[in-house]
Amino acid sequence: MQASNDETQAQTDNLLSIYRRIIEISQQLSTTYDLQSLLRKIVIAANELIHTEASAILLMDEASGKLRFAMSSNIKPHEMDEMTVPLDGSIAGWIFTHGEPRVIENASQDPDHYQGVDDRLSFHTRNLLGVPMKTPARVIGVVQALNKIDNQRFTDDDIAMLRTLASQAAVAIENARMFQQSDFIAELVHELRNPLVALKASTTLLLRPDLPGEKHANIIRTMQFETERLIGLTDDFLNVARLESGRVQLEISSFSMHHLLEESAQVIEQQAHDKGITISLDGDDHHVAADRGKIKQVLINLLSNAVKYNIPQGTIYLNTGVMNENGDRYLQVDVTDTGYGIPAEHQKNMFQKFFRVPTTANMERGTGLGLTVCKGIIEAHSGRIWLESEEGQGSTFSFTVPLSL
Ligand SMILES: Nc1ncnc2c1ncn2[C@@H]1O[C@H](COP(=O)(O)OP(=O)(O)OP(=O)(O)O)[C@@H](O)[C@H]1O
Ligand SMILES: [Mg+2]
Repeated sequence: MQASNDETQAQTDNLLSIYRRIIEISQQLSTTYDLQSLLRKIVIAANELIHTEASAILLMDEASGKLRFAMSSNIKPHEMDEMTVPLDGSIAGWIFTHGEPRVIENASQDPDHYQGVDDRLSFHTRNLLGVPMKTPARVIGVVQALNKIDNQRFTDDDIAMLRTLASQAAVAIENARMFQQSDFIAELVHELRNPLVALKASTTLLLRPDLPGEKHANIIRTMQFETERLIGLTDDFLNVARLESGRVQLEISSFSMHHLLEESAQVIEQQAHDKGITISLDGDDHHVAADRGKIKQVLINLLSNAVKYNIPQGTIYLNTGVMNENGDRYLQVDVTDTGYGIPAEHQKNMFQKFFRVPTTANMERGTGLGLTVCKGIIEAHSGRIWLESEEGQGSTFSFTVPLSL
């Protein structure tokens, strides 16, 4: 009798210490605003609490409608970049759509286990426990704990603990995202300040009675230039904000890509001509099903970069070709330049907001939003955008859009 009382006491103590640890962890999570370190803390905590070999966080990627690996204790960050899991035909997808936890005791024999990830990582999943990450408003992703140590089974306590951790984590992730958003607003205001300061200085100058008349035209030209810059900036900001909130409405039509390429090239023709740059178009023409105005915006962004970051007398090659991806047919468009190229260490940052390559940023004006807008537009079309580049040789930016049926 005494022994069993002691045993119950020991179990209660153990549970209490675990819950104390969960409270400690959730306090840590709620004060971490950097998304990457937050995600890292969550996977470490999951391994510790559930006693597993590995754990991973998959977050919903609104643009592609798939779950994307955001952090994992057994996948290197660069391997995770392109790793997605479909909602249909995966355990994580099931957990996400049902909003319920799930235990898989024998992963290799479970028809729902998505083998794609194991194949790529040579990680063998024996068993797993997955729970949804729920905020009060919605499900934002899934936490999975993989391979219980010592071949034990997942218990009800494990499920309860991972659920608690996941919901604390979900709220912390939403907070960190909101924090990032306010960073974006701070950066925005900062960018708007420069042209506004230039405008104010110009008006002050214009009002000076002693200003020689012949200077007026020059100052007014500056004002015109800065006003256009302000309009460009606000357009970019609005585009990024709309794309991020998932509120973009696409107006899909069927149109010839070569016509659009020619039309977009005309927009930057003068800029290219001033730098002695020639543009050549190759590949077969095809009709695509996309939002023509938005794809034109992507092309103008890529073309204007290909001019800005090109050498004088350089070339821009435009190429198109049909490609298959997951059974769907896409048109791939390549924009190649013969310019400065992008150092390998910066290539992964190219589509991030406000990112500019430090070595070329001072040579050309820009905000570092053009490529962010491109990525948002292409992904809203369920296409992909990527780059290949060699420093000093040039770069190729490629994207895909669905072919018209
Ligand atoms: N074709 C290219 N060759 C070399 N570097 C490039 C190329 N395209 C983009 N970059 C680098 O990537 C950065 C980000 O490009 P992005 O188009 O997003 O911004 P930006 O051109 O600086 O400003 P804007 O918002 O006006 O487009 C650029 O500042 C430049 O450093
Ligand atoms: Mg640009």
